[in-house]
Amino acid sequence: MKDPRIIVAIDAPSLDEALRLAARLKPELCRLKVGKELFTACGPAIIEKLMALGFQVFLDLKFHDIPNTVAGACAAAASLGVWMLNVHASGGPRMLDAAREAVDKSAQRPLLIAVTVLTSLQQEDLFQLGFVEEPQALVFRLAGLAREAGFDGVVCSAHEAAPMKERFGRDFRLVTPGIRLAGDAMGDQRRVMTPQEAVQAGSDYVVIGRSITASDDPLSRLLTINSDLAAIPLRSRIG
Ligand code: C5P
Repeated sequence: MKDPRIIVAIDAPSLDEALRLAARLKPELCRLKVGKELFTACGPAIIEKLMALGFQVFLDLKFHDIPNTVAGACAAAASLGVWMLNVHASGGPRMLDAAREAVDKSAQRPLLIAVTVLTSLQQEDLFQLGFVEEPQALVFRLAGLAREAGFDGVVCSAHEAAPMKERFGRDFRLVTPGIRLAGDAMGDQRRVMTPQEAVQAGSDYVVIGRSITASDDPLSRLLTINSDLAAIPLRSRIG
């Protein structure tokens, strides 16, 4: 498979555990997402080891700092050879420009993705932070800033995928967590979609954690999801 749409979230606390999980997956069937917990525990070694196994890595560190610092962090991440990285759009236009310029200068340019509004924030939290807009309007405002800064896409809910594609175009990549397979426990996720529903709505990449990693047979789950996605007629794929 040339461009697998599944990104498996390896939310493990240690190098050994992460590698044990990765050994049960296949690089031709998915990419892997390394987040703050695993990266803080293991450092760049985990990226090198996963890449040595043939996996492409989404480094999900959501940088948010002054432009100069974020530019340096993006350059450092790009030099590790990661496939995708992300920053918070709320860092503002100058920070977004600095991030994009940094990845543009890298030898192997990763995809640069913005986080808009954390789904853990509810309307009341946003009011307390001084944001008076509806959460949805804020998501679109921040995605617009990322688009203007030349970002490759955003992390968003699959529920926002269709209007997001309509507004920002087919090439603006949508990375969607909050995915569950039919019959799975919801866990702490609330508004979930299946991988098929998400891709039909316009998602380019589905981030799936526990529905794969907590399964007894992660590889067969990957195969099933990939074949479900392949069965979606091309015309209904917005991306
Ligand atoms: O296990 P699960 O499929 O819920 O994992 C989803 C992954 O996506 C986790 O790494 C989680 O931190 C991340 N994520 C999310 N919701 C967001 C953004 C990121 O679940 N809005």
